[in-house]
Amino acid sequence: MAYSKELIDHYENPRNVGSMEDGASDIGTGLVGAPACGDVMKLQIKVSADGIIEDAKFKTFGCGSAIASSSLVTEWVKGKTIDEAATIKNTDIAEELALPPVKIHCSVLAEDAIKAAIQDYKSKAATANKGQDAAE
Ligand code: FES
Ligand code: FES
Repeated sequence: MAYSKELIDHYENPRNVGSMEDGASDIGTGLVGAPACGDVMKLQIKVSADGIIEDAKFKTFGCGSAIASSSLVTEWVKGKTIDEAATIKNTDIAEELALPPVKIHCSVLAEDAIKAAIQDYKSKAATANKGQDAAE
């Protein structure tokens, strides 16, 4: 099976590997697993006060396509608003990396991970706002 150059590049030189402090209120963490194969992906975003994603990191326990998908997503989301980032589709990832059909679920994992990270950030922000209201 021939893998695309872009896929191999992200697999061999993954961008933004690592993790950020989980508890911080400006960090959103998404941790998801792929039912199809048991692989796990953790994706984190750091969001500025005006809702721009300043940084993103990932750790993926999984196949090369999952690593490449998460690497690509961390690159894509930087500089985007959380609402823009939420519109990333697994089909965009699969197309960019030219994933073969059996590897499509790996890109689904990356879409799920970024959505989960955004959700986590939003729920933290909502709690923080409530705290502020209560203090006023
Ligand atoms: Fe899990 Fe791809 S099947 S590594
Ligand atoms: Fe399961 Fe890639 S995430 S094979």
